[in-house]
Amino acid sequence: MTQTIQVVAIGGTTRPNSSSEKALRIAAQAAKDAGAQVSFITGTDLLMPIYDTQSTERAAESLHLIERIRHADGVLISSPGYHGGMSGLIKNAIDYLEDLSGERRPYLDGRAVGCVAVAHGWQASVTTLHQLRQITHALRGWPTPMGAAVNTAETQFSADGTLEDLAAHAALTRVGTQVVDFAEAFTAHRN
Ligand SMILES: Cc1cc2nc3c(=O)[nH]c(=O)nc-3n(C[C@H](O)[C@H](O)[C@H](O)COP(=O)(O)O)c2cc1C
Repeated sequence: MTQTIQVVAIGGTTRPNSSSEKALRIAAQAAKDAGAQVSFITGTDLLMPIYDTQSTERAAESLHLIERIRHADGVLISSPGYHGGMSGLIKNAIDYLEDLSGERRPYLDGRAVGCVAVAHGWQASVTTLHQLRQITHALRGWPTPMGAAVNTAETQFSADGTLEDLAAHAALTRVGTQVVDFAEAFTAHRN
């Protein structure tokens, strides 16, 4: 019996109509279409205290994030480009993976990670994508071959979340599909 691939999709901002959340949802839909079950940590779910090494107390949102990653086969992460890099909101969420350091599968170990960055220019979208992929490597995850950098100076999301630039839309779709492809292969290998 094949088990359903579990993907956790993390990202966006607290802004209504967040473009980085819309990008995340396009990639997540592709993961669903490829057969995965996807859970979301977006918007105000990301409003957790700054990760504190001197405390073992964790807010409910932080515990939820840690638990989701613990059981995930694949991860999607989408950040806006802020001042040339990923947002503090997303980096703080990632810092909580330190709480998985002592696990059998620490951090992002053995998990496919699809990275997405959205900024109002190429420079920040590309540098932010690069950061997400570097962090994935550092945390023992497997960045999918394709990442997606979306430049909202050149293409816009519609109110219903679709993207007018078909090439950018296809890149996001590919990221979601590749997370599931890798997760299926790696899960079969582990079993
Ligand atoms: C604090 C802040 C810093 C930003 N810095 C950059 C930047 O350095 N380069 C850039 O292209 N866009 C920058 N932007 C624009 C955002 O990347 C862009 O609006 C992004 O789509 C916002 O994400 P959201 O739509 O999910 O809220 C910045 C926006 C904010 C709020």
